[in-house]
Amino acid sequence: MAALRLLLLLLTAGGASGGPQPDCSYLGLLKHLQLDSASHHLTVTRPVQNWTRPTYVWVDMLLYSILQVDEKVQTVTSHIWRYMTWTGEFLSWNSTEFCGIPYVIVPASSVWIPDVSILEDVSDTGSTYRSPVVKLYSNGFMSTYSRQRLTTTCHLKLRLFPFDTQRCNITFLSMSSGEDAVHMGAFNNGSALTKFSEQVMVTQGEWQLRKMEIVHDRLRTGETPLSEVVYMVTVVRKPMLYVINLIVPLFALLLLDVASFFIHEARGEKLSFKVTVLLSISVLLLILKDMLPSTEDQLPMIANYCVAIFGFVGFSVLEAILVSHLIDLDGYFGRKAQRSAQKQKQQEAGGPKEAAAGEEKAQVKPDQSLLPLNPSSSRDLLQQILEAVTSLRKEADRRIREQGDGSYRRVAEIIDTVFFSLYFIGIVVFLSYMYSVWIYYVFQ
Ligand SMILES: *[C@@H]1O[C@H](CO)[C@@H](O)[C@H](O)[C@H]1NC(C)=O
Repeated sequence: MAALRLLLLLLTAGGASGGPQPDCSYLGLLKHLQLDSASHHLTVTRPVQNWTRPTYVWVDMLLYSILQVDEKVQTVTSHIWRYMTWTGEFLSWNSTEFCGIPYVIVPASSVWIPDVSILEDVSDTGSTYRSPVVKLYSNGFMSTYSRQRLTTTCHLKLRLFPFDTQRCNITFLSMSSGEDAVHMGAFNNGSALTKFSEQVMVTQGEWQLRKMEIVHDRLRTGETPLSEVVYMVTVVRKPMLYVINLIVPLFALLLLDVASFFIHEARGEKLSFKVTVLLSISVLLLILKDMLPSTEDQLPMIANYCVAIFGFVGFSVLEAILVSHLIDLDGYFGRKAQRSAQKQKQQEAGGPKEAAAGEEKAQVKPDQSLLPLNPSSSRDLLQQILEAVTSLRKEADRRIREQGDGSYRRVAEIIDTVFFSLYFIGIVVFLSYMYSVWIYYVFQ
């Protein structure tokens, strides 16, 4: 404002020396337009000679960046520049009379500005910068711009996440004037604005602007409908991060689970391995839960994918438990049979005391060797423990292999084979279905 006043002052000083020549100063023009003093009549109302004539307002929007898309809250934050042009009937001049001045810049507070707002806007106040000046053209056109960190609501369709394409509306309209008073439009067409936006776009994050379409529409409210111009912005997600972060690890975990069928049954590691895989998948599920909204009616396909893999691995854990239980049963019955056979033998030979005493000795021996704590003997101790563990292991393996009549074991093996075949077929069918649907939608 101060700068403008200074400018006007300088211009006046220059113009004062002139005699009868035409007034080439901006101030002369402003005097002609009655904009030189604090004249409120131009600011208070819509500049038309006849009230039935509508004012045309053109809003051109450029998308400078897509800052954030919040799937959980369903909002899109972007940075936009908005150029607004409208017609005023009182403020026009013949530029030849004023030394060919094509336009003049005046303070925004001195003219009427249409109250255009954005329907989907949920930004905090203070995120908008409005230009303090308005450019006035000789034919009565006025234009101004504003830039804004805009947060809009947008119904995000996440079924195909992370291969999704989102379409969000940004609707400009004048809430206070019906379409008979303010007519909304856009100067440029959608493809030109898309091209401009692509040129000036600074950052898009994980999104890529595909196109902006402009639709003129009317919003029906109580009395007269409101004229509106809708920018339909289409953005595509760059899915690579999610592929690397979610889809590939899940697939790898599923593969690990399939591979775990080849771990030997007799070792308890199989079950704990499978449970670890299950836990890893549940961690990935937690990550997913933080990303996707719970409001979604249609579950995103990635959630189906995660849950299905979780289910597959969960089932295979249950199966591993069943199989190991059957093998335990086999061992149990086998041991029972052997014990009764031993008893018979002992009754024939002498008594069970000798064997029991031998076992006691074996149990007590390590306790005694724990007492000395000097390093040289601790190596011996470790050696002893190692030997003891190895012999125990051998013993256990031998027992499992030898004991039992093997009927439960055979059942377990059959269950394992059948389950593995079904599991493998299930996984192949599921994965091919999943990827074909995804790929179909991505490339359609
Ligand atoms: C966007 O606006 C157009 C035109 O008014 C409308 O047909 C479409 O349903 C809107 N889309 C959304 C997601 O609101």
